[in-house]
Amino acid sequence: MLSISDLRENYSKYELLEENLTKNPIELFDTWFKFALETEVLEPNAMTLSTVSLERKPRSRVVLLKDYSNKGFSFYTNYQSDKGREIELNNNVSLNFYWSKIERQVRIEGKAIKLSFEENDNYFNSRPMGSKIGAIISRQSRPVNSRDEILKRFEEYDLSQMPERPKNWGGFIIKPILIEFWQGRPNRLHDRIKYIFKDNRWSYQRLEP
Ligand SMILES: Cc1cc2nc3c(=O)[nH]c(=O)nc-3n(C[C@H](O)[C@H](O)[C@H](O)COP(=O)(O)O)c2cc1C
Repeated sequence: MLSISDLRENYSKYELLEENLTKNPIELFDTWFKFALETEVLEPNAMTLSTVSLERKPRSRVVLLKDYSNKGFSFYTNYQSDKGREIELNNNVSLNFYWSKIERQVRIEGKAIKLSFEENDNYFNSRPMGSKIGAIISRQSRPVNSRDEILKRFEEYDLSQMPERPKNWGGFIIKPILIEFWQGRPNRLHDRIKYIFKDNRWSYQRLEP
């Protein structure tokens, strides 16, 4: 019989030591992200985004990371979706990446800011036609009576004109103020390094597992 309580991994593949750290955590994220790609982690760009609801309750869902740099971490969505409206009222969010194949987790906390019209247009225009139309016709997070209703809207979309980005569709960039790197280690003695952005500079601290 399956016993979930007996499921356990003894993480032992890698380590995160002080000598591996960079001053800027984005550089370490870059190294880890590229390593996740090299080792063929499935969808390493999938990240859990948590927002705070209007009732001040946490809410999480997965979105796709589209870019990262010293400016922050970005993703795209419908601004009128639940998450879009939640961010509008409270832009404190957190992100979580779990790359099980390499026994690593990255936690990010920061403030979400809307990307510019130009950045939104550039990314929207780079998407395949089907995704553009999908973004235009979906009223993300609203109740709908049937899947057929959505498909009908999709099929009836007038293709005589190039689809333009709807004003309610675009990206957010998360400006990080905390980034924690977690590396699974044997005997639950995991490596945890937390970076904090304060007084315009990053500093780090090792945490107990
Ligand atoms: C792997 C994966 C990737 C996803 N990527 C996105 C994304 O980039 N943007 C997005 O709006 N929703 C994405 N979704 C859907 C969201 O998880 C969510 O269902 C949707 O955005 C509605 O969330 P909300 O009602 O909280 O606004 C993705 C889901 C999965 C499982």
